Amino acid sequence: MLDALKTELLESIAAAGDLAALEDVRVAALGKKGRITTLMKALGGLDAETRKERGAALNVVKDEVAEAIEVRRAALRDVALAVRLDSERIDVTLPVRPESQGTIHPISQTMDELVAIFAEMGFVVADGPDIEGDFYNFTALNMPPEHPARQMHDTFYLPPAANGETRVLRTHTSPVQIRTMLTQKPPIRIIAPGRTYRSDYDMTHTPMFHQVEALVVDETTHMGHLRGCISDFCRAFFDVDDLPVRFRPSFFPFTEPSAEVDIGCARKGGELKLGNYGDWLEILGCGMVHPRVLEMSGIDPTRYQGFAFGMGIERIAMLKYGIPDLRTFFEADLRWLKHYGFVPLDIPNVAHGAGA
Ligand code: DAH
Repeated sequence: MLDALKTELLESIAAAGDLAALEDVRVAALGKKGRITTLMKALGGLDAETRKERGAALNVVKDEVAEAIEVRRAALRDVALAVRLDSERIDVTLPVRPESQGTIHPISQTMDELVAIFAEMGFVVADGPDIEGDFYNFTALNMPPEHPARQMHDTFYLPPAANGETRVLRTHTSPVQIRTMLTQKPPIRIIAPGRTYRSDYDMTHTPMFHQVEALVVDETTHMGHLRGCISDFCRAFFDVDDLPVRFRPSFFPFTEPSAEVDIGCARKGGELKLGNYGDWLEILGCGMVHPRVLEMSGIDPTRYQGFAFGMGIERIAMLKYGIPDLRTFFEADLRWLKHYGFVPLDIPNVAHGAGA
């Protein structure tokens, strides 16, 4: 009779097609009211001799059944896992899905390119707030309250801070120079890409635009370093090895001497080409940090010199990618983004010509 029970139970264990069915079999055999459990309970009513014999036999059956359940459970688990792995299989070597719609905005792409190129030269990224104090945006950059250069910035003024300080939307990224020098000791080598604001709007001006600022301060920094750094950057960014780069004397209150930088180009039939073609195009302002700016930022000008430059990001992106109208950058037109945007995985890298 025990043999018959054992055979029957082993058969139903083998027949259980999944973990839930197997659990039902286990409860019916070994659960509180299971058939083997019931037989165990009945042993108490037998005489000592028979109980011993039958008890031992029952125990053997019980252990065999329990073990068979465990073995079957492990097998069913393996099968369930294999089925799941099969249904969730992903081929990670497949290319990006062609139907992906999102693109990286040319401003973000250009900023990533700038960071990649300057990181290679040992610069680190710094930033500052869009809402600036008058001191950082103007005064510490050698533009005291009545300075005429302040008028050129078409500044958006905000209500004053609680302490009475005049607040503005920063008109350039140059205040990050001041913040960096006030909190770091030389040697300093930073770039600061970010948003800037001026109250102006036409084909070549939008009230919000982007700049990147660079600052290097050390004991032996000179104009030669400035020239080399900017020339290397221009050639890497525009991916033209023999790109002519010209430094033209200029004026900024926060640098002395100051220069504007032109790159070589050709303008033919409304088309612009970059390279050694005899014509020039201005792309940035630069200079040696004015000793008064160093001093106001807590750096000893008798010991340290620095160079700095600032550049409009839309402008260099328009030149590199042939985008004709500045205002389109901020219209959020999906057709424009599709045309001028970048594939998300196309991460700029100097070895690839910084995304060129
Ligand atoms: N801040 C200037 C502007 O917005 C650009 C600039 C010129 C930045 C010369 C500099 C610099 O760091 O040295 O027009």
